[in-house]
Amino acid sequence: MISKETIDKVFEQSRVEEVIGEFVQLKKSGSNFKGLSPFSNEKTPSFVVSPVKQIWKDFSSGKGGNTVAFLMEHEHFTYPEAIKYLARKYNIEVEETKLSSFEIEKSSEKESLFIVSEYAKTFFKDTLINSSEGKSIGLSYFKERGFNDETIFSYDLGYLPEDVDYFSKNAIKNGYDPVFLEKSGLSIFKNEKPFDRFKGRVIFPIHSMSGRVLGFGARILNNQLKISKYLNSPESLIYNKSKILYGIYYAKQDIAKHDNCYIVEGYTDVIQLHQKGIKNVVSSSGTALTIDQITLIRRLTSNITMLFDGDKAGVDATLRGVDIILSAGLNVKICSFPIGEDPDSYCRGKSQEEIIGYLEKNSKDFIQYKASILAQTSKEDPILKSNTVNEIINSIARIPDRIKQEIYVKHCSTIMDVSEDVLFNALAQKTKNEIHSISKKRISKVHKIVSNKDLDLLFELEKKIIEILMLYGEKTEHFEELIIKNDKEGNVIFEPTVVKSLVYEKIFLDLQEDEIEFTNESFKIIYEKIISEFQDNGKLVLEVFLNKLDDELANSVTGILMNEEQYELHDWVGKNIFVKNKSQSVSQLVSETILSLRTYLINKKVNDLRDEIKVNKNNDKILEEINEYHKLKSLLYKKLNRVL
Ligand code: CTP
Ligand code: MN
Repeated sequence: MISKETIDKVFEQSRVEEVIGEFVQLKKSGSNFKGLSPFSNEKTPSFVVSPVKQIWKDFSSGKGGNTVAFLMEHEHFTYPEAIKYLARKYNIEVEETKLSSFEIEKSSEKESLFIVSEYAKTFFKDTLINSSEGKSIGLSYFKERGFNDETIFSYDLGYLPEDVDYFSKNAIKNGYDPVFLEKSGLSIFKNEKPFDRFKGRVIFPIHSMSGRVLGFGARILNNQLKISKYLNSPESLIYNKSKILYGIYYAKQDIAKHDNCYIVEGYTDVIQLHQKGIKNVVSSSGTALTIDQITLIRRLTSNITMLFDGDKAGVDATLRGVDIILSAGLNVKICSFPIGEDPDSYCRGKSQEEIIGYLEKNSKDFIQYKASILAQTSKEDPILKSNTVNEIINSIARIPDRIKQEIYVKHCSTIMDVSEDVLFNALAQKTKNEIHSISKKRISKVHKIVSNKDLDLLFELEKKIIEILMLYGEKTEHFEELIIKNDKEGNVIFEPTVVKSLVYEKIFLDLQEDEIEFTNESFKIIYEKIISEFQDNGKLVLEVFLNKLDDELANSVTGILMNEEQYELHDWVGKNIFVKNKSQSVSQLVSETILSLRTYLINKKVNDLRDEIKVNKNNDKILEEINEYHKLKSLLYKKLNRVL
């Protein structure tokens, strides 16, 4: 493990513009640097590096983060690899803390599993290409399936003959420890005698993102036998089925380049499409898609197209996958193949153009897709139709981005011929239930959601608060508070008093006082983390803080921080679109934002109470409550007018 001191030194000394400057040609632009995105093929620069904030943002792919995040993204380094790279660059000595004996055992077990898997891959490959049985049985099988030499070689395909221990015997003879042969699942021991797990099969090695072999899938050659068609490596320290995507090593560059990732079901689908020149393709290897697998893809693109055969099992699994992708904030399309065909069988004998044409013509977004399934059954049946609409709304409710949600609601309204209002209400109902279940505090009553318009304003205000906290949280500012007093005649007056306070404390205490909780889930988590960072350390070092967040949160934080840069980039002012100027002072900005949020919430509450009056006969109590809120509101307006 690299010591904390080394990591701190690396962060203190490295400069984001110097590090990125080695990979991207950067030009000075105001207080920032600009360049062409290294993650897409763009012609106009949308890649921004901020020396002041020590972060970067790529507006074409949406990626961003600190120096380490750039190296992990661009060079596909692991975290320790990135730290070591920077340490070398800045002549910082890397201090390694001692591993516990348990950690040493674990890390060397992992290393040993990698080594034995690499050996096995080479052995299987060699057997396929060079042995006479490999050639006559294995190689001819692959050729029959239409794979050419180059494909077979580059995918490291292999073969094992029917002998019980052909591989194990050789591995042991060459000094490989039987313990790791067993733990990797390559050999199965019975009464201390080894058996080859993959005997009599053609073999597909499964590579990690960086190309290391993690495990294997192996197929029988003869379909008639009543044994499992595919055998896979068992779970081990290096092989977790749910965290792996077959083909990701071969696909990663093309996924980033085309800004789209095709997901198929099987090994052969990946290989066939790749051979046809469609290289941005991976497979979940027959299992349901997991969030870990989507996280792998998210580093490369936010667009996924699921390809699958038209049978019933395929449909259900795909629809579950769709919801997981949507909740992860990615876009998803679905393309099905004619019944009885999978991508591999369909593509055989077709040209690249024909295949791309088919994919383009048949890729549908999830609403079109669900609607088309309905159309196949019965469009006239009202119960079926309402079920479908509900399912679509369920999926839309999973999308974290409000704007995207709205677009999909409109789309659904057109396709399903249901009014937008009804759909928005159904959606609000779903979102509301979620909010109620997470927030037990009183304010949740205030946060009753009515329409998407409200959500957008709330979203912006919550975002602004996060931005202020990160940029100015540790500043000390003078805030004007209105203290309630009585004048000589006994009238209530508000006396302005200046109070000195840390920005983060001011925000935290003000929001706490009103029991205001963030409605946006990511913002809520980020807010809590920022506050505890300040409370624990008294400061927030951005690049250190970003490291403590998972990919998704770190990305959303970077997005918030680079907001202004985006305006600069698009020259919105030049196009006569005016973005509200930053307030003259930090204290003004803080007060204005908090007051706007409070005013917004109170207005909302008053409106809700008015609705209640309409249906409620016993109005007195409610009217009284409205009155109280009005008083509070006029007080807030007074304050707001003073800051504006
Ligand atoms: N699979 C598996 N075990 C099985 C069957 C399938 O692990 N017994 C996984 C494999 O990763 C396989 C994928 O599920 O590639 C899809 O299964 P299927 O469609 O049955 O196989 P194909 O990939 O079409 O294989 P082939 O064309 O060789 O029959
Ligand atoms: Mn197939």
